[in-house]
Amino acid sequence: AGAALVVGYLLGSIPFGMILTRLTGGPDLRSIGSGNIGATNVLRTGNKKLAALTLLGDMLKGTAAVLLAAALFGSREAGLVAGFGAFLGHLFPVWLRFKGGKGVATFLGILIALKGSIALIFAAIWLSIAYLTRYSSLSALVASLLTPLLLLFWVRDARAALLMAVLTLLLWFMHRSNIARLLAGREGKIGQKG
Ligand code: G3P
Repeated sequence: AGAALVVGYLLGSIPFGMILTRLTGGPDLRSIGSGNIGATNVLRTGNKKLAALTLLGDMLKGTAAVLLAAALFGSREAGLVAGFGAFLGHLFPVWLRFKGGKGVATFLGILIALKGSIALIFAAIWLSIAYLTRYSSLSALVASLLTPLLLLFWVRDARAALLMAVLTLLLWFMHRSNIARLLAGREGKIGQKG
């Protein structure tokens, strides 16, 4: 389990947003918008393509961690452990002095590897709420909360549900400043600069 955790962590700790903005001569994500390293904040640089690539990279590293560890160590449990590792890697990357992202894209990537149909539902919920409210954070908070419930009561996969419940707790914790801004009516909307 230790090896799967490390493999997951190393994959998850690749900060695609930072790497891509730096390679293209963009601003330091830490100094713009929310200061976060995720796709939502990359979009605030005005570069839609780069935001999409960040989303893709941060997502696929989660998918890759689960599938790679499951294949490498020959068990589904190893995949679950690696998924947990990847999430920790994204949130607390050693390369960025443990100040990483908020986990939404990586959460979805891990979910893709665990249960594609629920990942599609996650994406549909995220998109619907984002379309209606233009709040990226609110969309993620709601979609993530429903994920472990769907896995437990609909898919009846208790292990996957447990993993995603732990990830949801972490995701909500990482969004604590977003939650405070939402409650105060001061959260930035999607694509809004500043
Ligand atoms: O849930 C999306 C989250 O990452 C929000 O990002 O940059 O608005 O804090 P940001």
